Amino acid sequence: MKKLYIKTYGCQMNVYDSARMADLLAPLGFTPVDDAASADMVILNTCHIREKAAEKVYSELGRLKKLKERRPMLIAVAGCVAQAEGAEMIARQPAVDIVVGPQSYHRLPEMIAQIARGTGHALETDFPARDKFDALPEEAAPQGVIAFLTVQEGCDKFCTFCVVPYTRGAEYSRPVTDIEDEARRLVDSGAREITLLGQNVNAYRGLGPDGKRWSLAQLIRHLARLEDLARLRYTTSHPRDMTNDLIAAHADEPKLMPFLHLPVQSGSNGILAAMNRNHTADEYLHLVERIRAANPDVALSSDFIVGFPGETEADFAATLSLVREVKFSQAFSFKYSPRPGTPAATMKQVPEPVKKERLAILQAVLTEQQRAFNRACEGRMMPVLFESEGRKRGQATGRSPYLQPVHVESASHLIGEISEVRIETVLTNSLRGSLAQSHAARPAQNEARAL
Ligand code: 5AD
Ligand code: SF4
Repeated sequence: MKKLYIKTYGCQMNVYDSARMADLLAPLGFTPVDDAASADMVILNTCHIREKAAEKVYSELGRLKKLKERRPMLIAVAGCVAQAEGAEMIARQPAVDIVVGPQSYHRLPEMIAQIARGTGHALETDFPARDKFDALPEEAAPQGVIAFLTVQEGCDKFCTFCVVPYTRGAEYSRPVTDIEDEARRLVDSGAREITLLGQNVNAYRGLGPDGKRWSLAQLIRHLARLEDLARLRYTTSHPRDMTNDLIAAHADEPKLMPFLHLPVQSGSNGILAAMNRNHTADEYLHLVERIRAANPDVALSSDFIVGFPGETEADFAATLSLVREVKFSQAFSFKYSPRPGTPAATMKQVPEPVKKERLAILQAVLTEQQRAFNRACEGRMMPVLFESEGRKRGQATGRSPYLQPVHVESASHLIGEISEVRIETVLTNSLRGSLAQSHAARPAQNEARAL
């Protein structure tokens, strides 16, 4: 048995890719382990979205090189830094054996064989996503109660700050039948909730069994028919692709959870135009209104970038005003970080202290909104899907419909099930509650007698 350690950076799509790499290498005798020191092969599955990503990877590689000096070890760099740096990685850190981009990792077995033949390093950075999905094995390690499934990859939007169109390539949607088969396998191995993943997931246009292109809403309604699948989510969406049929699905598809991550990035029209987002702040607000009109229960989340080149105080104030108007249930916010090769990297930059100050102000408002959203849940009953055991004995952790982690005592017998929970305590990032009576564990015989 050979030991495989995969370190994953970045988004859920990388988490999915890492799991698929493990599936791909299982037939070669590799078993996953959770530290690098004892591993025969280490894969760094990297992310390039924000600053210093490459530097972090090089310093991790420096540490791995030391381990490799003591015992034989294959070192592979996968993901978006591998795609962006290519052969440069091997030149800079010769301890690296394999560099494989996010569309080429299905070639890993061949690349390992190539190294074993003593041909030196192996590099693969340009194959279309189509080949990858066709080549991945059907057998997959179970993901558990909450699972992720990549349905779409790549992006044609070319926001001026973003590396994704360069590292993940053009938009590609997997065919409906392939997705359905994978969803069925996930459900058969215990998944009750599936999040459909894509860089631009609501731009999904996969080939349907009828030979036509299906929308994400059609795909969701189709997957919702899987009986043991209780919940569906999707991420990440672009406001421009929020079609009427997808909004309607939030109104009348009960398995589609009332939570939507819909990044707006900025509330200033000038900055949105410079970012090439192709919509205005008002168009976003109008979209939010339409979503809430369809289903007032939908909680909204977003990504924000502060200090994009040219962002003035007035632009930043416009972002704060949009945030105050929408009231997000949670959000991610970042300082703009120039990415080599993207148009915004060569624009006039905002000074670092200004970015830092704006980020702190924005995050304070967003954290307050998250607290307010959570506070409004206090005293409510909500269906919680229990996912794993908590830290304390008998405790279980689950997820609310709005993606909040919920901790409940005496609930570990309910993992994999959805139960009504009364929310009692509210923290910034999670909730605590107790089981509604009908879901509580029956007391053991002797306890019952004592009562
Ligand atoms: N700088 C800062 N944040 C970025 N993001 C993407 N590119 C950059 C960048 N160059 C953020 C966006 C995106 C999220 C995944 O990462 O907000 O929605
Ligand atoms: Fe990047 Fe998303 Fe813009 Fe595509 S839509 S370029 S992935 S930020």
